[in-house]
Amino acid sequence: SGFRYRPEILDEIKEEDIMYLKEYEDWFVLESDQLKKITDHFVKELEKGLTKEGGNIVSFGPNLDQVTTPMNVTWVMGFPSGHETGRILTLDMGGTNLRVCDVCLSTRKRDFEQTQRKYKLPDEVKTGTGEQLWDFIAGRLETFLHEHHNGGRTGTTLPLSFTFSFPVDQKSIRSGVLQRWTKNFNVTGVEGQDIIPQLEAAFQRKNLPVRIVALINDTTGTLIASHYRDPQVKVGSIFSTGCNAAYMEECELIPKLADSGLPKNAKVIINTEYGAFDNDRKILPLTPFDRQIDHESARPGTQIYEKMVSGLYIGEMLRLIMLKLHEEGRLFKDQDVTRLRNENALEASFLSVAEMDFSDRLDDMREEFEESLGLSPSLHELRICRYLIGLVATRAARLYACGIAAICKKKNLRRCHIGVDGSVFNRYSGFKGRAAQALREIFDWPPTELELIALNAFEDGSGVGAALAAALVLEGEEKAKP
Ligand code: GLC
Repeated sequence: SGFRYRPEILDEIKEEDIMYLKEYEDWFVLESDQLKKITDHFVKELEKGLTKEGGNIVSFGPNLDQVTTPMNVTWVMGFPSGHETGRILTLDMGGTNLRVCDVCLSTRKRDFEQTQRKYKLPDEVKTGTGEQLWDFIAGRLETFLHEHHNGGRTGTTLPLSFTFSFPVDQKSIRSGVLQRWTKNFNVTGVEGQDIIPQLEAAFQRKNLPVRIVALINDTTGTLIASHYRDPQVKVGSIFSTGCNAAYMEECELIPKLADSGLPKNAKVIINTEYGAFDNDRKILPLTPFDRQIDHESARPGTQIYEKMVSGLYIGEMLRLIMLKLHEEGRLFKDQDVTRLRNENALEASFLSVAEMDFSDRLDDMREEFEESLGLSPSLHELRICRYLIGLVATRAARLYACGIAAICKKKNLRRCHIGVDGSVFNRYSGFKGRAAQALREIFDWPPTELELIALNAFEDGSGVGAALAAALVLEGEEKAKP
């Protein structure tokens, strides 16, 4: 019997390799039935996160482990009309970069201009103290203001919207207690604290003339920005260093908001934080590699789903697999594997380059191996690795589709667009196609039917989304004035 994933690979791979590669197939290939089961369980977990019991458990501390999808209320209570105007600064702290943006919303409907700067977050900043982190951010903002805003010394205070791509418990749109770090961040003194006063204190230390008007998640920003461009967008999602999604929910359907006195027809964007899905390990088929990645992460036992799919981990997954095969004497015999032993030696782009190489001799792929790992594999070894890469990346895309499908099922969305941002989604060749195929299987769309739920890339939407969220807040403030 042949392989289930890429059966044609049998012609290229030696008999003696087939046996053990099949084991990897068993670990990583997820059939349609499994995807459907995972999706159905996912729907239940989304619902649980909205209940008092499931969603109201202390937002920080050991009990958080009982909540698999926190379903955080964002207090963004509507979509922008498209008529928003004004100039807003945005700060976006993602998993890898800090972006500073000056967004000018124009009166011409659904239009904006932006100036953007991107700074890499140094590793020391991701694992240092809170003060170091906030000072780093304030420092980049200061530089930006000098370059683009005349130092910000215009006599007025500039409204600023902060996109913080981590789970926060919000009592209002201007506050947020960090539930816990994800994406291997490990900054002290921030978990369990409201991050806004901390960031404001750093702004004050540098005397920056800014006022924080909104705190949002990157998925919320993506949802707002992509809906602004295309009203058919119902879900905003990030597939990048991390993986998550947000959607608009009726407050009536959120039991944990029952006592909040909101009008009956109110709606609010929910940041699902579903990277934490299956933290209680009820359904996802974990491989030994998933367990190892979790074990070696900054927060073991958390973000189990995210660790199986997102860009931060798929390179590491491949590294662990190749290392195991090397130790079993199957790959890179007699080669110096020192660099392969380095944790996080591979980025997601390594996998993408390999999969994009359709040449007979796999030269691009070979070059990547030489550059990133100092290895010179044979053609045969490259083929084996390419096959393994396909397994890891296909599983990621198919599992990614389950989260999206679950939101659509929960909201009974049969036809809509999903706005997706994130470098891995936008740049990993084939990722989108694989995720779309998985959605087709989950929903049983016939092959002749077009995709009813379409994943559409929205690049760099988060700055605009953050600005629009702030514009909504400012509009509200205006209206509230006597
Ligand atoms: C992680 C964060 C989440 C964010 C996602 C994508 O899952 O917890 O807040 O949206 O990464 O950046």
